[in-house]
Amino acid sequence: MSTPFVAILMGSDSDLPVMQSTIEVLNKLEIPCEVKITSAHRTPAATHTYVKDAEARGCHVFIAAAGLAAHLAGTVAGLTTRPVIGIPLDAGPLQGMDSLLSTVQMPGGIPVASVAIGKAGAKNAAYLAAQILALADAGLAGRVRAEREANAAEVIAKDAKLQADLAG
Ligand code: RP5
Repeated sequence: MSTPFVAILMGSDSDLPVMQSTIEVLNKLEIPCEVKITSAHRTPAATHTYVKDAEARGCHVFIAAAGLAAHLAGTVAGLTTRPVIGIPLDAGPLQGMDSLLSTVQMPGGIPVASVAIGKAGAKNAAYLAAQILALADAGLAGRVRAEREANAAEVIAKDAKLQADLAG
């Protein structure tokens, strides 16, 4: 059986700077991923072909990011029954509100798990994909837990430093 992987799709190369956060988190958690520029509007046939092929090769979770009229995640969700996480991006004058509504307002039966607009959403898409894959991978579950603990330790350390600075 093929190794499960995550497919990261984005509508344009202009999305890549924000999407580096998704790639970094997946790499840190040792989750194999593919990264693809493909657009629901500009390359609909290529999007269709890629999603069907990726699913057949063992993609367990799709992450799709787009700005403006962000239909990429919805298009992917219509092509697969694997979980689809949508990241709305801020790419225009409406500062991502356009993408958020386009991503989240899916019709019943075709779900997209939409995360927040921009960089926080890009990170959380990777963590959410990790948590889904961790249901069937004890090693990954351990790495996800360790990451949470490291984040908590960092906050506690920052507070300890603040308290020390204030005291002294
Ligand atoms: C969307 O349009 C892309 O996902 C991107 O966020 C936005 C602008 O694309 P470019 O004109 O920069 O290629 O489809």
